[in-house]
Amino acid sequence: MFIPSFDQTHHRYKLANTTTGNQKILKVLGGGSSCVTLLIEDGKSQLVRKIAATQNSSKLDFQRQWLSDHQGYKNIPNVLSFGESEEFSWLDIPYYSDHTPFSKIIHQQSIGKSGDVLEKILSFLSKTIHQEAVAKDDINDGQIYLREKFFNKVDVAQSIRPEYSEIYSSRIISINGNEYLNPITAMKKILDTRPNLKNLTKDQHKIHGDLTVENILIKDNCFLLLDPNNENYMSDIYVELGKVLQSLDGNYESLAEIESNEIQFKNSAISFQEKTYPNVIQLNQFLKQWIYKNYSEEAYQIALFHEVIHFARLLPYKARYSPKNFIVYYLRMTEIINKVGSLWQ
Ligand SMILES: Nc1ncnc2c1ncn2[C@@H]1O[C@H](COP(=O)(O)OP(=O)(O)OP(=O)(O)O)[C@@H](O)[C@H]1O
Ligand SMILES: [Mg+2]
Repeated sequence: MFIPSFDQTHHRYKLANTTTGNQKILKVLGGGSSCVTLLIEDGKSQLVRKIAATQNSSKLDFQRQWLSDHQGYKNIPNVLSFGESEEFSWLDIPYYSDHTPFSKIIHQQSIGKSGDVLEKILSFLSKTIHQEAVAKDDINDGQIYLREKFFNKVDVAQSIRPEYSEIYSSRIISINGNEYLNPITAMKKILDTRPNLKNLTKDQHKIHGDLTVENILIKDNCFLLLDPNNENYMSDIYVELGKVLQSLDGNYESLAEIESNEIQFKNSAISFQEKTYPNVIQLNQFLKQWIYKNYSEEAYQIALFHEVIHFARLLPYKARYSPKNFIVYYLRMTEIINKVGSLWQ
């Protein structure tokens, strides 16, 4: 995760002119290219403020609208306040100091407990938000989705990091000693054999849109969903499940810990050291079974397909801001698209 320096954030924060006499920034909690998340002390209480520059405020506007639309649910944070100045928009939600991100809890509690809470989250969504229709005008085209969110993203990332050109141009890539088809070739092959994938538009419903384990806060058996996201272009349960898979199947959160000296590559062969966690592996198995049972085997495969797109989507960002380990995200995407390809052979 790219976290802007405190000074930079503080400067932005000042510019946003949202401070009052007794508000104080306690901590930078997070931040991407367009938003920064701050823990703020406001008198005696604490709150979380998200700030975006006005030109990037659409994501924040969406979050505010999505959260406001779902205020009736105890699993969705309340919007405390929001506003905008000429330069910035902001959104305040309560600070849940007694909650822990699911990404941490997975390692601390039994797999049975994590499975229970994951099941609760998925059934909550499927009974509520996933039942809401998407406005007709917001339904998008599958072809454009694939072009914008896969092919273009891979292209942009490759041009930012030309040092891996041998990997990009090889038909076969060796990753940790196993051979995989180049991701572009693998995707084209899948699209040739399953042309119906271009019609990804059917059955679109509202979703949370960024259901990674970092965006879920847990306390005992209760959960809160942070950070709804509208940048998926496609809005259906497979895209939603693909995000959970990105965490559990793709081991996304752990990839961020890989340092450049843990990556070795020569020509089109590359290997890297990755920490894998038994609880994450088991919860991933649980998720797979849950999707099989509540949807279908086919649904699981389509969700894996969207997991590939989720990895592709973040490549330009990783290429720009995380050069030390950007390539592992590219490689994980390659592994998963090959897995999907072999399931659909
Ligand atoms: N209201 C909150 N209460 C407690 N912890 C929070 C709250 N909001 C955020 N956090 C913690 O801070 C982390 C980062 O916050 P957030 O998810 O807003 O930033 P981000 O992931 O960098 O942004 P984005 O997902 O919008 O790109 C979360 O994963 C969570 O652990
Ligand atoms: Mg987040």
